[in-house]
Amino acid sequence: MNMPLLHRSFPEAAGALPRMPLGDGPTPVRVLSGLTGRVPLWCKDESGYGSGGWGGNKVRKLEWILPDVLRRGARTILTVGGTGTNWGLATALYARERGLRTAVALVDQPFDDHVRGQLERLRRSGATLHFTRTRARTIAAAPWLFLRHSAHGRPPYFLPAGGSSPVGALGYVEAALELADQIAAGAVPEPSHVVTAVGSGGTAAGLALGLRLAGLERTRVVGVVVNDTLRLDARTVSALAARTGRLLRARGAKLPGDVVAPDDVTLVRDWLGRGYGHPTPGALRARRLAADQAGLALEPVYTAKALGALLDMAADGRFGAGPVLFLQTHGPRDGA
Ligand SMILES: Cc1ncc(COP(=O)(O)O)c(C=O)c1O
Repeated sequence: MNMPLLHRSFPEAAGALPRMPLGDGPTPVRVLSGLTGRVPLWCKDESGYGSGGWGGNKVRKLEWILPDVLRRGARTILTVGGTGTNWGLATALYARERGLRTAVALVDQPFDDHVRGQLERLRRSGATLHFTRTRARTIAAAPWLFLRHSAHGRPPYFLPAGGSSPVGALGYVEAALELADQIAAGAVPEPSHVVTAVGSGGTAAGLALGLRLAGLERTRVVGVVVNDTLRLDARTVSALAARTGRLLRARGAKLPGDVVAPDDVTLVRDWLGRGYGHPTPGALRARRLAADQAGLALEPVYTAKALGALLDMAADGRFGAGPVLFLQTHGPRDGA
């Protein structure tokens, strides 16, 4: 893609908000038939986004984060995630290409073939792995981790789980502006709801802010919470959207006042099952359906739970007449 849409919308902030292109947009939109009865269902497919060893939503966040790391002169990124973290893997792979090191503190999650494969990829990525195992132990180890990964008096650049900082959320402000362009071009109808998995909130927060900035007043973000190890609710996600707005403003963008209201985002938790990474029958069913009927490759931790929720909510009439847009955020590579 040429100029980021965020720079086109806020040219006054472009110099202070550099973006490093790592993928090609716009990502495709298409109708998914046969899954939701009378409610029209569309998909914006982020799986192909990213030219490196991992794709999907993480890459959009890294496009804004990596320039910020370089701007601050840090040499190492320190972040956290579950044992099979897509986020840690994407960070390690794209940071390595830019000469940056990555260290990841890993919290236990249920172990299965998917997680085993991700851990193997993480080991091959060259990231330094710290098996801190629980959230409490990760917090306790934080001072040591910062010291261990400081170099020449410089601390590591810390990124919260999932890259859900205001800088990371800019990736989904950009994606929402891209969606608005696709709607304006008639490639997809204006959705009543955009449904996405919520693992750390940055994707949903960026989308909510971006949709408002694009003037899509009718579209609501529905986040399906798949992670019970972080506090994730409509307040925390809209607070992150507000912090992202403040970041834009601090970098010079002329934004109107409070852009995102808490009720712009709905978070649903009933599809989490026993917790983060625990499969649910509904998710497994949605995953099979998506593969068989729509040729969509979902994974069990995030996207299958999100689609499972979407299908149940559509059947319950919770989207009205729609149309609903599902965000396919999973971007595996090498058959992962
Ligand atoms: C495939 C996939 N989808 C969705 C998400 C959720 O995105 P976020 O962490 O921004 O809530 C993640 C990561 O957490 C992910 O790996």
